[in-house]
Amino acid sequence: MAKKRFLILGASGRTGFEVLRQAAAQADLYTVAAIHSPAKKSIVEPYANEVICLDYDQPGALLPALENIDVCYMVLPRHDHEITHANAIIEAAVQASIGHIIYLSALTLAGDTGAAAQTKIQIQHQIEQSGLNYTFLRPTFFMQRVLYLPFEKDRNRVRIFATVGEGRVPFIDTGDIAKAAIISINNPKLHRQGINLTGDYALSMAEVTRLLSRYLNKNVIYIDEPEENFSKRLIAEGYSDLRVEKQLETFRLWRANQHSDVCTDFYEATGQKKTDFKGFVERELSQIRRIYG
Ligand SMILES: NC(=O)c1ccc[n+]([C@@H]2O[C@H](COP(=O)([O-])OP(=O)(O)OC[C@H]3O[C@@H](n4cnc5c(N)ncnc54)[C@H](OP(=O)(O)O)[C@@H]3O)[C@@H](O)[C@H]2O)c1
Repeated sequence: MAKKRFLILGASGRTGFEVLRQAAAQADLYTVAAIHSPAKKSIVEPYANEVICLDYDQPGALLPALENIDVCYMVLPRHDHEITHANAIIEAAVQASIGHIIYLSALTLAGDTGAAAQTKIQIQHQIEQSGLNYTFLRPTFFMQRVLYLPFEKDRNRVRIFATVGEGRVPFIDTGDIAKAAIISINNPKLHRQGINLTGDYALSMAEVTRLLSRYLNKNVIYIDEPEENFSKRLIAEGYSDLRVEKQLETFRLWRANQHSDVCTDFYEATGQKKTDFKGFVERELSQIRRIYG
């Protein structure tokens, strides 16, 4: 049987790279890794049958990339033009008549009118309206998200900043998100469906930093910052005003424990195991040491 041609957008990114690595181990998939920065080619090359460079700001390249593709993993970096980029990809996917699009959305709450949630809801709606076969992955905050929060460190101490107070979230590992993407390809029960994805238990940032302190043998503390100060840090990292607002919105929900519920449906249906936060820290310890050590 011919292999399914699987185009992985954002293949050098946090979830895209995991999807690519797991897809490479599937005998029935032919992987096409789409990257943005040519410098990242060497990272994805060992796992990809083909590598292409794509810039969502050059929509003319999308149709040729999607032609002869059976399945596409679509991830859009948080960006002011997220909806425009999504629409260009959806339009090209329809023209190319691809069989299945797996969209990395986010877990949203009923009635959330914030820009972050509405962006994801609007893109899902566009896909539903397009007639394409789809799976929506709706993860909560990634475990990996902790590792790119702003921080300051000296020899004895690491201070990690956010605006989430004592709020708890059931962080999910990007590897588990990728697993759901791969499983959805050959499971029609997961087509025309949204899958909510969380970890097994919710943690606060104070609990996360206590765990990191133990593993790093260093004092790691969480600093609950006023939004104004935190925004300045994000702007210094290159965030646009809209992106800052979207980040603050989602962190307000985290702070208010609005995202603390655990979702089990997908795992009960598939028998998949979830990665727990301690397991994540143990697996990524050398990278975590490089960041905070
Ligand atoms: N972080 C969380 O906790 C969380 C939770 C739920 C949902 N989400 C959603 O997850 C998504 C981000 O996923 P991710 O973390 O896997 O993404 P990511 O690591 O930010 O990766 C984004 C990918 O997109 C590529 N890219 C950037 N600009 C591009 C452009 N102009 N044209 C084409 N490709 C471009 C990047 O390529 P280069 O690296 O080559 O630039 C990278 O491979 C967002 O939509 C976010 O809302 C995040």
